[in-house]
Amino acid sequence: MAAVQTAPKRTEYLNFWNKYSDKPTHESMLLNNNAHELEESDRADVVAALPDYTGKDVADIGSGIGRFTTLFSQKARKVISTDFIESFVNKNKERNASAKNIEFVVSDAAGLELEDASMDLVFTNWLFMYLSDSECVDFTLKALRWLRPGGYFKLRESCSEPSTGRRKGNAVHATDAANPTHYRYKSLYLLLLTNARFQDADGKWFKFEVEWGTSIPTYITLANNWRQVHWLAKKVEIPAPVNGEISTQEALLNAFSTSWPAEQVAFDALVSGDHVSWTHKAITQIMAPQVSASLGATVLAYSPRVVDATAAVDTFALVDESTTTNFWTIELNPLAFRASNTKATEKRDQHQRFAWHANLQSAVTYLSVHNTGFDGFVGTELLSTATIDEVLSLKTVLNSKAQLLLLEPTSETTVNTDALKSAGFTIDLVEDVTTAAHDAINDQISQGTLKAKVAKGSLSASWTVIKATKP
Ligand SMILES: C[S@@+](CC[C@H](N)C(=O)[O-])C[C@H]1O[C@@H](n2cnc3c(N)ncnc32)[C@H](O)[C@@H]1O
Repeated sequence: MAAVQTAPKRTEYLNFWNKYSDKPTHESMLLNNNAHELEESDRADVVAALPDYTGKDVADIGSGIGRFTTLFSQKARKVISTDFIESFVNKNKERNASAKNIEFVVSDAAGLELEDASMDLVFTNWLFMYLSDSECVDFTLKALRWLRPGGYFKLRESCSEPSTGRRKGNAVHATDAANPTHYRYKSLYLLLLTNARFQDADGKWFKFEVEWGTSIPTYITLANNWRQVHWLAKKVEIPAPVNGEISTQEALLNAFSTSWPAEQVAFDALVSGDHVSWTHKAITQIMAPQVSASLGATVLAYSPRVVDATAAVDTFALVDESTTTNFWTIELNPLAFRASNTKATEKRDQHQRFAWHANLQSAVTYLSVHNTGFDGFVGTELLSTATIDEVLSLKTVLNSKAQLLLLEPTSETTVNTDALKSAGFTIDLVEDVTTAAHDAINDQISQGTLKAKVAKGSLSASWTVIKATKP
């Protein structure tokens, strides 16, 4: 087992940022020489993902020269804006000299203390990358403590590689060695947020309900910086933890530092590289002709991966079939979210967006606020996992005449389409495709691109394609 990272690299991170202390500029904030071109659209991305903070108390931590402090001060009741580089705080003060509701603090986020239950929004943009594992865990638990119940923690980080990607020419630091930034797997922050629990002085337990995680908050934003990931988490009261749930800081740190990264590596080995989901083949054979013919320009894809990890809509295969279609894919599994999102990043595939949600209802709630309607829906395991209410709510994010294309596992010989019918969809096709699906799986197993034990659930299920239309 890898050693838990407990020794904070405090001095290294501080020295790194001190090098920019004489340059309190957008270039330093984005660590990018093209900041003048990127800053505005980057800020718009972040703003699109914020909860309403009108009349609220906001903490902007690691706020730099105040790119977001200014916005918060215009609507919030009070803003606490902190950074550990004094010249950045001074620049922030200068830019916001007329605002009367901002408290500026020079402080290291690692040792920061705010009053318990005093904030409605704790906001960080590119801070955790400069915190050690133990500091990330500590800060997350503190954010849970600082927030009032119902308050939000907004976290946004660069993941897996620098935001300047492989175009080193844009990075303001000369070499990778000069940059101590910690680019973690996208899944780790999600797992940290969803597993952090805190007990207050009255004995009440709280955790974060993560409303969503996504690389691009809105479908219409065509920024190509998918390494960036946003999460919005709400503080909610919960029952006391039960056996098996993480309830101590030590257990949280151990999972964040060791077990979750190992789980991600194992998952990636199953589905990355040559190892593709079996639906790559099956979807291409079974579903893709239908997709290119009828699903339209913007398609919502849904992959709960309950039967097994590789039973998923393979939008990579669908994009190959229909290069004019753009996909917004909902993943429910944090490890799959990371694997899919990273694959799209590596392929620089502009046709794909990935989001994580706890369930379909939460995805629909998010999409109805952040996106325009979709022309089509393609999903695995919709009818076998979603509630009737969720199927009904899907209609709100689909355009009129939108086509649904479902690949559904069935233990019985027929699939129950009642949920679709009661939601008003017209059923156009119900076809048993078990043989074609199993052939596709077995083909991949014999080619060595899929392990039989991984596709066990898919091989033991029967599969049905359903095509339906929204009125
Ligand atoms: C990439 S900049 C982002 C600044 C700002 N959040 C924005 O989006 O424009 C990262 C900022 O985090 C600050 N920072 C990094 N580690 C910190 C720490 N431990 N405590 C306080 N500030 C920190 C840096 O000084 C820098 O201003």
